[in-house]
Amino acid sequence: MKKRDKFLPYCLPYWGDEEISAVQDAIKSNWWSRGPKTAEFEKKFAEYVGAKYAVAVNSCTAALHTALAVKGIGPGDEVITTSMTFCSTVNVITHCGATPVFADISPDTGLIDPDEIEKRITEKTKAIIPVHYAGQPCDMSRIEKIAEKHGLFILEDAAHALYTKCGDRLVGSKNTAAFSFYATKNISTGEGGMLATDDEEIAEKARVFTSHGMSKNAWNRYAKGGTWRYDVEVAGYKYNMTDIQASLGICQLDRLEFMQQRRESLYRIYKERLKDVRGVSLLPETTNGRSSRHLFIIKIEKDELNIDRDEFIEELNAMNIGTSVHFIPVHLHPFYRKHYGTKPGDLPNTEAYFEKIISLPLYPSMTEEDVNYVADAVCEISAKHAR
Ligand SMILES: Cc1ncc(COP(=O)(O)O)c(C=O)c1O
Repeated sequence: MKKRDKFLPYCLPYWGDEEISAVQDAIKSNWWSRGPKTAEFEKKFAEYVGAKYAVAVNSCTAALHTALAVKGIGPGDEVITTSMTFCSTVNVITHCGATPVFADISPDTGLIDPDEIEKRITEKTKAIIPVHYAGQPCDMSRIEKIAEKHGLFILEDAAHALYTKCGDRLVGSKNTAAFSFYATKNISTGEGGMLATDDEEIAEKARVFTSHGMSKNAWNRYAKGGTWRYDVEVAGYKYNMTDIQASLGICQLDRLEFMQQRRESLYRIYKERLKDVRGVSLLPETTNGRSSRHLFIIKIEKDELNIDRDEFIEELNAMNIGTSVHFIPVHLHPFYRKHYGTKPGDLPNTEAYFEKIISLPLYPSMTEEDVNYVADAVCEISAKHAR
């Protein structure tokens, strides 16, 4: 096959004139920090996912940290999560002074295995953070039963999971959930996040915590009729979203359905083209809900090819195709090894899964031709290296 001239990036945001006008309007409004657009985005987001409250913040990491902090999770507590995630899911546990405990994954989906969660519960366990990895829904009915039995707080890491359904409910409509609007996510505000919850106490405390711990946020202070007085109730963080970001978020939320349809149709092409390729396997179809199709992951089966995952990536790169790997297991990073004594061999499924995976480009502005080009390249590399 002929190599394309232009590099195909692993991911690009999707935007149009609406985003440009919305940002211009926000600039002209003079509310450059948190203001009415942020409040509007929170309202629209909460309505969309079906949550009672939504608190807009400057990242999913901030939303995760805030939720744990306002639940009072701290030193001496343990939080169970997966190692097959971005480091921030776990860093926030450390930020609270609590101890992360890793549960292994299901080797097919890469999702946290509920049996593994149950095995790791101790008297110190206070919370579970399931990650809807790649946009696939975790087995929430099992996880909810475990949490209920042991009185644990569930915080869903929904960085990949806007549009994901567990059964017939959208993520965000039941348990407290943290969403990401980072540049590669299904909707983006550049950087940004949202904490969605039905729990009034979490929502109220989160508003205070994400605004330095001040009882009144800046938007109230500087609005007509606002007062200069405020009390600092906790040593909070500067985690608020800005109106410039929220203006983007409102446009992106309006586009979500369209963008998801694009993801779905591109996903279908990949799936059809790659379902029977030697040495390449795919994640199974979701049967317990709906995937947001956040990532398209292939697994390289080393016993069927004479190259490994890293060499496969190099060959894709040589064909001008950008890729990524989601994720380097968190427990193998030097910080976690040093501070919590984690080591290779702790999580056999996670470690074996990591060795296989490649995330291929999947985003709404890709064309069918782009997807077919990537699929052709995968087929060609596989044929060249078949054992
Ligand atoms: C699974 C997961 N959790 C959390 C995050 C953190 O999101 P943010 O960059 O918005 O803080 C990411 C970001 O990539 C992620 O992939």
